[in-house]
Order: sequence, then C-alpha cells, then structure tokens
Amino acid sequence: MLDIQHVDKSFGQEGPPVLDDFSLAVAEGEFVSLIGPSGCGKTTLLRIVAGLLTATSGTVAVAGVPSLGPSRDKAVVFQHFNLFPWRTALANAAYGLEIQGMSRAEREERAMQWLVKLGLERYAHHYPGEISGGMRQRVGIARALVIEPKLLLMDEPFGALDALTREHLQGELQRIAESTSLTILFVTHSIDEAVYLSDRVIVMGTHPGRIIREFQVDLRRPRYDYNFRAEPQYAAIRGEIWSLLERELAITPDEPLVDATAGGVDTRS
Ligand SMILES: Nc1ncnc2c1ncn2[C@@H]1O[C@H](COP(=O)(O)OP(=O)(O)O)[C@@H](O)[C@H]1O
Ligand SMILES: [Mg+2]
Repeated sequence: MLDIQHVDKSFGQEGPPVLDDFSLAVAEGEFVSLIGPSGCGKTTLLRIVAGLLTATSGTVAVAGVPSLGPSRDKAVVFQHFNLFPWRTALANAAYGLEIQGMSRAEREERAMQWLVKLGLERYAHHYPGEISGGMRQRVGIARALVIEPKLLLMDEPFGALDALTREHLQGELQRIAESTSLTILFVTHSIDEAVYLSDRVIVMGTHPGRIIREFQVDLRRPRYDYNFRAEPQYAAIRGEIWSLLERELAITPDEPLVDATAGGVDTRS
C-alpha cells in the first residue's frame, strides 16, 4: 500500500541531510510505527508521504501511484488537532467531504456516522473550544476517516493528551484498525504505545534521520483484551528498543525523547 524508496531530504541547498536513504514498504492493513528522538525527521517523512513536502530525491507510492501531492487516498492526523475553531465538531469532521463537493446532507450524515463510532454523538454541535482535548482529537480522527482513505498518517496524535485519555484512544484506534483494512503509519515517542498498536516498529536514529532497526510485534490481537505487558515478547522488544534509543540519545543528548513541544504550538505541523 505504501512504498517509500531511497528518500533523501535536506532543507535548502546547504542544509544538512534530514533524511538519508529512507526506504520502507507497508502492506495493506498493516500498522507500522516510527519511533526515534526528536529531530530525526519523523514529521518530515510523514509530510513527504502525505504529499505536503517534496523529497530531495527518492520516490513515494501509495497503492502503486506516485504520491506527488495531497490526495483522497491519504489522510493525516496531527498532534495539535488543527480543527477550525469556528466550525462545530460535525462541520470539522465533514470538512474533507465538503472540499470534495459533496452535498451538505450527505456529508453531514457520513461525518455523523464517524462521530457516533468515536462516541461523540452528543458533541456534534459543539465547537472545539467547548470540548476536551481527547474529544478534539477524536474529531480530528473522524475528519481523517470520513474521506475513507487507504492510508492513515498519524503524527504523535495522542502526544498532547493525558495518560488515561491516551490509553483509551489507543484502544479505540485498535478497534478501528481491526474493523477496516486501513493501512496506518504512526509516529510516536512512546515505546509502549508503539508496541501496543503495531505490527511492526521502525526505530530511527538521528543526524541524519535513518532506520536503525525494525521489530516485528507478534503479540496476539486484539491487545486490549489481555495484559499484553505481561508477555515475555513485550518486555523483550521494549527493552531492545529502549537500549537503541538510549544510545541515540547519548549521541545527541540535547534532543529530548519527550516532545518538548507537547502542549505548545508546533509550527512545523
Ligand atoms: N521547514 C523546515 N526548514 C528547515 N528545517 C526543518 C524544517 N522542518 C524540519 N526541519 C529540520 O529537520 C529536522 C527533522 O525535523 P522533524 O521532521 O520535525 O523531526 P521529528 O518529527 O522527528 O522531531 C530537524 O532538525 C528540523 O529542525
Ligand atoms: Mg515531529
């Protein structure tokens, strides 16, 4: 479903390489997470895949078609919601269908179906300023899914939420992923979140951003039905990823693993 081949990226002619020879193939229905220190190029890679940014060299194809700009195949969910404050939850969720030119009645019906699935029925006519951060992010997810994308790109979508809301939404995302054939590329700073959600976890290093290793997660699904953290495979993968990241952080101690922009405004997204 997604084929990234030898992507390099630098900003400007003299800029240092941000991504170096990044290649990754993701199968239909697969859930793949990218984890790595701040500044290793995760957001840059997601924006290239989304068609919002051009690679310096290399190619990206989605469902066999070169990804040269935004398209209906791909939807993005960012950390900071990016909802329109002057639109209700329903009008925000329906936005992608509105720009496709769908009639109001039809787009609101489809958007409502997703709001219901995400437990937001009662808040459909509320504005973003009137609902919690967790609800705002559900609206962001509804807005992405309503266009029925083949590929869902998520950039630290739960990074600005409190721990309980985050766990709850991780479970919901897993249910959604199971009930559709969605292919998901998910960026996170949390090893636990990556292992819980993913079929495969890609660990990235920094300066330049590149893949250091990948892990296949074979824990049985659904994972919200049992204590997956008690499984030996969970502890083993978690430990290995942590030691890889610790080594990366030792090389670049000024780059914190915890996102310093959480709660603030990330102008790059
Ligand atoms: N628009 C831009 N112009 C110049 N440099 C950028 C731009 N966007 C990102 N960068 C640089 O690229 C590197 C990777 O950034 P980013 O993709 O946001 O990393 P991550 O999401 O992994 O934290 C950083 O060094 C960042 O400063
Ligand atoms: Mg980022």
